[in-house]
Amino acid sequence: MTKDTLKWLMVIAVLVVSISQSCVHGAPRVPCFFIFGDSLADNGNNNLLTTLAKVNYAPYGIDYPGGVQTGRFSNGKTTVDILAEFLGFEAPIPPFATTKGQDIVKGLNYASGAAGIRAETGSNMGGHISLDQQLLNHQITILRIASILRTNTLQTLQYLNKCLYSVGMGSNDYFNNYFMPQFYPTSKRYTPEQYALVLIDQYTSQILTLYNKYGARKVALVGLGLIGCTPNAISKTKGTACVDEWNSAAQLFNQKLVPLVDQLNTNLTDAKFIYVNSTGMSSGDPTSVGFKVLNVGCCPVNNVGQCIRSGTPCRNRSEYVFWDSFHPTEASNQITAFRTYKSVDPTDNYPMDVSHLVQLKP
Ligand SMILES: *[C@@H]1O[C@H](CO)[C@@H](O)[C@H](O)[C@H]1NC(C)=O
Ligand SMILES: *[C@@H]1O[C@H](CO)[C@@H](O)[C@H](O)[C@H]1NC(C)=O
Ligand SMILES: *[C@@H]1O[C@H](CO)[C@@H](O)[C@H](O)[C@H]1NC(C)=O
Repeated sequence: MTKDTLKWLMVIAVLVVSISQSCVHGAPRVPCFFIFGDSLADNGNNNLLTTLAKVNYAPYGIDYPGGVQTGRFSNGKTTVDILAEFLGFEAPIPPFATTKGQDIVKGLNYASGAAGIRAETGSNMGGHISLDQQLLNHQITILRIASILRTNTLQTLQYLNKCLYSVGMGSNDYFNNYFMPQFYPTSKRYTPEQYALVLIDQYTSQILTLYNKYGARKVALVGLGLIGCTPNAISKTKGTACVDEWNSAAQLFNQKLVPLVDQLNTNLTDAKFIYVNSTGMSSGDPTSVGFKVLNVGCCPVNNVGQCIRSGTPCRNRSEYVFWDSFHPTEASNQITAFRTYKSVDPTDNYPMDVSHLVQLKP
């Protein structure tokens, strides 16, 4: 397939989906969607924490409906926001930190900027909600759901079996841990190969908790992207080159995540796990889908790579892949969400995309 064909396929596909979205007001394709992750998905959970990793100020959110500063690390919607739209949810999945009441039965977002698989990851930035803590927060949610639905434990788990779960973790275990030797000893203690193994071991038990204790049966595991090609990384090479050492470390992690998905699907036959190939999706030529600026973010940034408060961002935000030094623009997120929902290239998701995952009978 040529780049142009790919481009037009994507444009057409996005149109088809957005049209069907605006006509159909049916029930969402899953009754509930729970999100575990880092700043790529955080929608306000960090706002109440003492941390440098929070962005509830302008120009963040400039393109979000109403132009509001929700704490999302982008100019507009995140990938999981858009994914929730494709799934047919009428409102975004709200943050755990500030959401009470009936709505929680449709899902919650536990994601926290700077957080990782490892508990200490992100401490250099301040407070954060590690994946272990996010799982504990989910346990609180489950008790609340049981009382809202007035169900016993078995019935609650049967309900939770039907939900979609997205788990995207690991980038900060590199950015805000392994590659920060001034704060963390991990790079002295482990080779990149050993570190990937240590992370995957811990991740495996966290994912198994989600399955065994919390009844998750449809789980999307988001692989690491090209962490060496963010504007932050590129600035370290004082030029336009990606940091190969970072990309290869992340690839070691991904190369262990894919066989983990196979093992989980073989062992746990009443569940399905998919690998979202973030690296694959970002490996193509972004200029073929209309992006013009790839190596710098859209806003002026501070020393931790986030937009400076009240700074003036670029105007053509849909032509930028990156919003700040780490986080994609909504324009990038639109494409990632679409390709996560429905693979454009067969390697986008393994062994199936989210649109097929959610059709499986629990
Ligand atoms: C899957 O089962 C095999 C064989 O019993 C076991 O060695 C492996 O640890 C299991 N993997 C997971 C992720 O449960
Ligand atoms: C991810 O995408 C890349 C590039 O298309 C491909 O080489 C790789 O095999 C994909 N991974 C999986 C598990 O499909
Ligand atoms: C935005 O993009 C258009 C078309 O590529 C260009 O003519 C215009 O100068 C750009 N505006 C800014 C502010 O960069």
